[in-house]
Amino acid sequence: MVDTISLASHSKPSSKSADQKASAPMHGQGATAKTAKWIVLGSGKGGCGKTTSSLNLATIAAGDGINVVLLDTDEQQTLSNWHRLRERQGGLPSIRLVTIPLSDFVRAAREIEALQGVDLVIVDTPPGLDNQAGVSQLVRRADFVLVPSSQAKPDLDSAVEFMGALVNLNVRGAFLLTKTSQRWGSYRMAKKRLNGAGNLCPVDVRFLRDIEATHEFGLGINELSGAKGTDDMESVWQFVRKSVGI
Ligand SMILES: Nc1ncnc2c1ncn2[C@@H]1O[C@H](COP(=O)(O)OP(=O)(O)OP(=O)(O)O)[C@@H](O)[C@H]1O
Ligand SMILES: [Mg+2]
Repeated sequence: MVDTISLASHSKPSSKSADQKASAPMHGQGATAKTAKWIVLGSGKGGCGKTTSSLNLATIAAGDGINVVLLDTDEQQTLSNWHRLRERQGGLPSIRLVTIPLSDFVRAAREIEALQGVDLVIVDTPPGLDNQAGVSQLVRRADFVLVPSSQAKPDLDSAVEFMGALVNLNVRGAFLLTKTSQRWGSYRMAKKRLNGAGNLCPVDVRFLRDIEATHEFGLGINELSGAKGTDDMESVWQFVRKSVGI
């Protein structure tokens, strides 16, 4: 576990290939609307790891040289609070933030599409997504929806139901098992259940103090030197990036 938080090196070279760089959106040409990929973190359940996954995927993608915009559609603004802390840190890869509630999704989409040079939009959503206005517009706009769930039965029930709704809308997505305790019997059962119910991200995110701590510093797990859980989140990012073709 990390007890003294220090910034990890940010001089990591971009892992984009020359071809990917050549096809990246060009500034000043209004290319964002056509080329930016949208990833949505969504579930019917609160507290399953949507915001934590959003911010950590954003910092890892930004560390890879990808131009990331975070869209916070949750009126609790947990992600925006994290971003405010991040703004106070120096020398970090830039991540832009748009904070607009899900009920006003059309405005949010318009605002993001007016931004230049965006490669990736990561959308954090409020709890209880089933009943939110704007959700079907949002998931239809998504290139990929990641549905986090802990290994606890109520979370799994909700995630499976939400995935069913995505399938009905013909939206691509995958479950992401988060906050896992791999030694508990429920872990194996959760994996089996999610594997049977749809596409499951092959790596899960362990329940770790260092991952929880990312909220406290405005940093991502990859930006905390020596933090446990960096591999977990980086592997999830590799899965997501392959899934959306970035
Ligand atoms: N892998 C993890 N290890 C340890 N703690 C975690 C992990 N993932 C999330 N948490 C903690 O669990 C809590 C809920 O996580 P998070 O805020 O990401 O969930 P959420 O789905 O966004 O919740 P809400 O629906 O209320 O917005 C937070 O306190 C967060 O720090
Ligand atoms: Mg949240």
